[in-house]
Amino acid sequence: PPSPLPTGSRLLAWVLWLQVWRVAAPCPGACVCYNEPKVTTGCPQQGLQAVPADIPVASQRIFLHGNRITHVPATAFRACRNLTILWLHSNALTHIDATAFAGLALLEQLDLSDNAQLRAVDPTTFRGLGRLHTLHLDRCGLQELGPGLFRGLAALQYLYLQDNGLQALPDDAFRDLGNLTHLFLHGNHIPGVPERAFRGLHSLDRLLLHQNRVARVHPHAFRDLGRLMTLYLFANNLSALPAEALAPLRALQYLRLNDNPWVCDCRARPLWAWLQQFRGSSSELPCSLPRRLAGRDLKRLAATDLEGCATATGPSRAIWTGGPADEQLLGLPKCCQPDAADKASVLEAGSPASAGNALKGRVPPGDSPAGNTSGPRHINDSPFGTLPGSAEPPLTGLRPQGSEPPGAPTVGPRRRPGRSHRSSAAGQRQRGSALAMQRAQVPLLARRQPRPLGLALVLWTVLRPC
Ligand SMILES: *[C@@H]1O[C@H](CO)[C@@H](O)[C@H](O)[C@H]1NC(C)=O
Ligand SMILES: *[C@@H]1O[C@H](CO)[C@@H](O)[C@H](O)[C@H]1NC(C)=O
Ligand SMILES: *[C@@H]1O[C@H](CO)[C@@H](O)[C@H](O)[C@H]1NC(C)=O
Ligand SMILES: *[C@@H]1O[C@H](CO)[C@@H](O)[C@H](O)[C@H]1NC(C)=O
Repeated sequence: PPSPLPTGSRLLAWVLWLQVWRVAAPCPGACVCYNEPKVTTGCPQQGLQAVPADIPVASQRIFLHGNRITHVPATAFRACRNLTILWLHSNALTHIDATAFAGLALLEQLDLSDNAQLRAVDPTTFRGLGRLHTLHLDRCGLQELGPGLFRGLAALQYLYLQDNGLQALPDDAFRDLGNLTHLFLHGNHIPGVPERAFRGLHSLDRLLLHQNRVARVHPHAFRDLGRLMTLYLFANNLSALPAEALAPLRALQYLRLNDNPWVCDCRARPLWAWLQQFRGSSSELPCSLPRRLAGRDLKRLAATDLEGCATATGPSRAIWTGGPADEQLLGLPKCCQPDAADKASVLEAGSPASAGNALKGRVPPGDSPAGNTSGPRHINDSPFGTLPGSAEPPLTGLRPQGSEPPGAPTVGPRRRPGRSHRSSAAGQRQRGSALAMQRAQVPLLARRQPRPLGLALVLWTVLRPC
């Protein structure tokens, strides 16, 4: 049929088409390929059930998220030696071949999140990814971190492991991650923080451990975290926390400990004393026991409130029935021997205090309570920290692109694979809202008071006339 276009226009169209073909070819059927700003193959939300076989080997970015891919074979990306960004999130992955990413020495960003059926990753899967700076493994149904899973990932800065089913933190799991700044472990089933769990994390800035089942923190668990600024342990199962564990956190600014079954008796004194001198912002620590202090904020108690040994006499919020056996279970130190001062203390009726003096002598010198203060008010008691409901503020005010390290060299159009004309805006919205929530960075909170004023206040509370 004769074309409505004049010959010149037809020729021009033909030349343009050739040009596009030359730039993009060969491009897999369901994908859009382009060369600027990076050589990119984008096939998001196409209903793909397998990784396309003919992905251009020059690809620097490959977007395959929002499909129904079940398997990443060993050969999937083998020839793509220049690959820096690979998104496979929101698929139906059940298996990743252990060598699927082998040889991708330039890979900087790997997103495997939201593949709830994955459940396990071979411990050698990430070997050799020496330039990787962001690894998303959140919402993958992971039960455990295999031995050496993160070995050699010296450039890693962001590690997302939240909302899995992790049952434990293995020793030395993050040992090689000397450049890691963000470690997200919230929303798992982690029961405790053992001594060697966070060894080697000398650059860590944010450690999110909230919404787990943490009942015990080893006194040396945070030894290497001298640069940590944010620590979230709210919504866990802590009845006690050794002050010794917090001592190495010299850079700490934001601490959340609410929603834990705190036992506010003599065993909480070292923690109480640490909180009195802490200059950052901290949440409330509502006591669970003893019942006469239930709901009171540990930080605001007087030293004299923390006397005797708490045991529960009836149903209470705490999962605690009293008795030495339960103390061991809870990871609480054995209760202290009532001393002269403690004799005046109120013990719960009908529950004899356990004997033993395990805590005494373990209290670091600086951790003894200051004396007869009547509940000094501290600058930590910001509106931020005191509202139990304010456990969540960091998860509000999110920046959807929050997971991108600012100024990263190869920041891809995360959540904006819009250059692919086939990407579905609806899919992006769905992902953008729910998922951005999960992975957004915690925004920095403004300090409430400048240090000199806070220091003066603390000095005043200590030195004021009785
Ligand atoms: C990778 O990039 C380099 C430099 O731009 C180029 O010479 C090489 O051909 C690329 N490799 C592949 C597999 O495209
Ligand atoms: C770790 O970070 C430092 C400082 O930013 C940098 O010089 C070093 O190259 C990084 N290490 C790796 C393996 O990327
Ligand atoms: C909290 O810790 C206690 C004592 O270790 C344990 O019995 C209880 O099951 C824990 N609760 C949860 C939710 O893990
Ligand atoms: C603390 O209180 C006790 C008893 O109330 C009192 O004997 C002691 O002198 C007080 N110590 C200080 C430093 O005020």
